Amino acid sequence: MCYSLLYPVIYIPDSILTQTASPVTHIDDTIIALLDDMLATMYAESGIGLAANQIAVLKRLIVVDVSQTRDGSGAYQMINPEIISLSEETEPYSEGCLSIPGVNREVTRPIAGVFRYQSIDGEIQEIEADGLLARCIQHEIDHLNGILFIDHLSRLKRQMIWKSFIKKEKTA
Ligand code: NI
Repeated sequence: MCYSLLYPVIYIPDSILTQTASPVTHIDDTIIALLDDMLATMYAESGIGLAANQIAVLKRLIVVDVSQTRDGSGAYQMINPEIISLSEETEPYSEGCLSIPGVNREVTRPIAGVFRYQSIDGEIQEIEADGLLARCIQHEIDHLNGILFIDHLSRLKRQMIWKSFIKKEKTA
């Protein structure tokens, strides 16, 4: 993780955040470097997850670290992540997003799930996660499908947040 690049994080209303990212068909040095840059960017922004859309790259790549250490040892770098199954049990939790700074809202999601992804060496991995890790992976996979956590809110609440960011952009 030396020489990692820090990317600027894209905010709403940028339309790249509502686009679907494409699967990664070939894992090469560029992809691995990008995942390291994403991890460095996420740490620099004090986030617990980051999807490639958020740095304007439409590839199915996410990074997640919900550990306390935040030194890379608890990090996941996932290529083509997918949801295999989700628990029926759900719970509400206050979420935020680096692309919607300053906004925290309660989102109800399944509390656990099984997720499949490719690691940087191309191996298929499957993990069973619950709690914050399961929530964070769901939030990041949503990003790859152009879905934001505010899309889980009522239309009125979502529109109020969008409008406030459009206004911010105009006055910036
Ligand atoms: Ni997010």
